[in-house]
Formats: sequence, structure tokens, C-alpha cells
Amino acid sequence: MKNDIKKVLYSEKELSEVVSELGAQISEDYKDRNLLMVSVLKGSIVFMSDLMRAVTIPCEIDFMAVSSYGNKTKSSGTVRILKDLDRDISGYDVLLVEDILDSGKTLNYLMDVLYARNPASIRICTLFDKPERREVDIFADYKGLSVPDEFIVGYGLDFAEKYRNLPYIGVLKDDKH
Ligand code: IMP
Ligand code: MG
Repeated sequence: MKNDIKKVLYSEKELSEVVSELGAQISEDYKDRNLLMVSVLKGSIVFMSDLMRAVTIPCEIDFMAVSSYGNKTKSSGTVRILKDLDRDISGYDVLLVEDILDSGKTLNYLMDVLYARNPASIRICTLFDKPERREVDIFADYKGLSVPDEFIVGYGLDFAEKYRNLPYIGVLKDDKH
């Protein structure tokens, strides 16, 4: 697996520092709110599991799964809900936890769907942002790191469902995608 990686962009230690800062900021901002952290499967599971432990206030968690990419590295433009939330989100301060904001189509769609369900508020927390690639007008309220327009894997992010278990963020060699 390691041999497929061209370079390491962020080490475990660097990621952990970024996640701690996000957790501290979220804990401060949501201290009097009714926080529900929603992880968008599967890419955000590693981030979610670290971020929720960096949050020091009471919160609940839930999961959604959507498909947007298939096995390609470009957005298909079609977003399908594969798994919906388990609960009614009215009255909750929803924080959508995403691995990476790329074209923005996935989160744009999810925001529309969730807004219609009358949460108390809804915000986005993304670990990575690729601003150059944005196709729709959407921004993250909480953002870990801006990354260049390269295909990254690890820490939950996949290429064709592989590499999610790498503990760091790496760039795949060109002949691997
Ligand atoms: P968007 O709808 O184009 O913003 O796509 C967001 C989704 O695309 C993310 O949740 C990832 O699953 C996937 N994605 C975008 N860029 C990358 C990347 O560099 N590596 C791995 N997955 C990516
Ligand atoms: Mg994803």
C-alpha cells in the first residue's frame, strides 16, 4: 500500500493537531446548543471518530451515506442517499462532518435535504477543502486544511474504496489512479 503513495502530505501528528483545534472551536461555539454531529459516510469516519473525541461538550452523533463518485476521481454530479439519518433533526444544531469539499455538489445537495427538515441550525465542518475545484456556491463553516488539486488518500479517504486505513494523508502515484 505504501508503495502506491507518491508523497505524504500530512502526517498523523499534523492531522491530530488540526483536529484538536477544530474540536476546541466547535466546543466553544456550541456550548449552549443542542449539537448533533452528522458524519457523511464513508470518507469521514476517521475524521469523525477523532473530532468527536476532541469535542468536550455533550453531543449526539448520526450517520448518512451518499454516493457521489463511484470508482472515478471526478464527481458524477449525481448524489444518491444510500443511508438516511435515524432521527428527526428538528431542534438540533446539526454539524455536517465531511472529509473533503471538492466540487461541493455532495454537500450542496445534503444541505438542501437537511434544511427542509427544520433543524435549529446547520453548519459544515470539513477536514479538507479544494477551493479550486468548486462548482457550486458553498463554503465550510469549519475547515481543517486547504489542499491543492491532487487526489489524496488515507485517513478515511479512498481511491476505489482502498487506502482508507492509511493513518496519514498521501498523494497517489499517477499510475495508480
Ligand atoms: P464533491 O461533491 O465533488 O464535493 O465530492 C466530495 C466527495 O468526493 C468527498 O466526500 C470524497 O468522498 C470525494 N473526493 C473528492 N476529492 C477527493 C480526493 O482527493 N480523494 C478522495 N476522495 C475525494
Ligand atoms: Mg466521501
